[in-house]
Amino acid sequence: MEWGMANRLAQLIAADGRCLFLAVDHGYFQGPTHKLEEPRKTIEPLLPYADAIFVTRGVLRSSVDPRRTRPIILRVSGGVSMAGKDLSHEGITTSMEEALRLNASAVGLSVFVGSEHERESLLNLSRLVDEGEKYGIPVMAVTAVGRELEKREARFLALACRIAAELGARVVKTYWCAEGFEKVVQGCPVPVVMAGGPQVDTERQVFDFVYDGLQKGAIGVNLGRNIWQDDFPVAMIRALRAIIHDKATPQQAEELYYSLKKDEIQRIG
Ligand code: R5P
Repeated sequence: MEWGMANRLAQLIAADGRCLFLAVDHGYFQGPTHKLEEPRKTIEPLLPYADAIFVTRGVLRSSVDPRRTRPIILRVSGGVSMAGKDLSHEGITTSMEEALRLNASAVGLSVFVGSEHERESLLNLSRLVDEGEKYGIPVMAVTAVGRELEKREARFLALACRIAAELGARVVKTYWCAEGFEKVVQGCPVPVVMAGGPQVDTERQVFDFVYDGLQKGAIGVNLGRNIWQDDFPVAMIRALRAIIHDKATPQQAEELYYSLKKDEIQRIG
């Protein structure tokens, strides 16, 4: 692997082989998502605990201080919205030159396997990989399901992850699933990170699925709503960090979360 590519991947994935990417790109199709209405306010307190942030160029420029930041994974696909008919009809929104100008460590784009625009999104991935490899910029493929959340099961996820890896993604983001997640990871010859999807009912559920996914071979997370939609997002990201980088169990992470939450309540009175 060439030096630039190896260096950028090393900025994203820590020496322990693990990563915690903070996803804050949701506005690119959802608009001012709940608790991400003012991106700077959401992002700033969480930044010290993230290994990288997944963000669009608009939010990066407007809401992230270039002097105090973390490695950037630039979201470079879009062109659709929640108000439109079909979330799968994305194009590439940002050039590789722009990614270089913004000093991105990687770029990310969604692929929509099984959708009406499957072919287009997969060819977008291939084109992006061709461009990225020219400049040593890794591509993270996001195996998106659009509104069809029920697609988050092993057979579909394994198919989507493998195709993304075959087309040249250096990292693949997918969803954790209760049954057969190990097969999703085993069938994908590049590192897999897990997204969370809509906020779940309890913090413990997040700790459990992240822990389980790591045992089954994922290298970390690209997590958004289950961090910053929590009432105590800093406690949440720190507890997740303990699982990812410090070998904490879900029980230990939950204890850490509650102790940080207690401190925070005392601090704000
Ligand atoms: C979708 O908006 C993006 O791909 C997110 O980066 C990804 O889904 C991770 O965010 P969350 O954990 O909120 O699903």
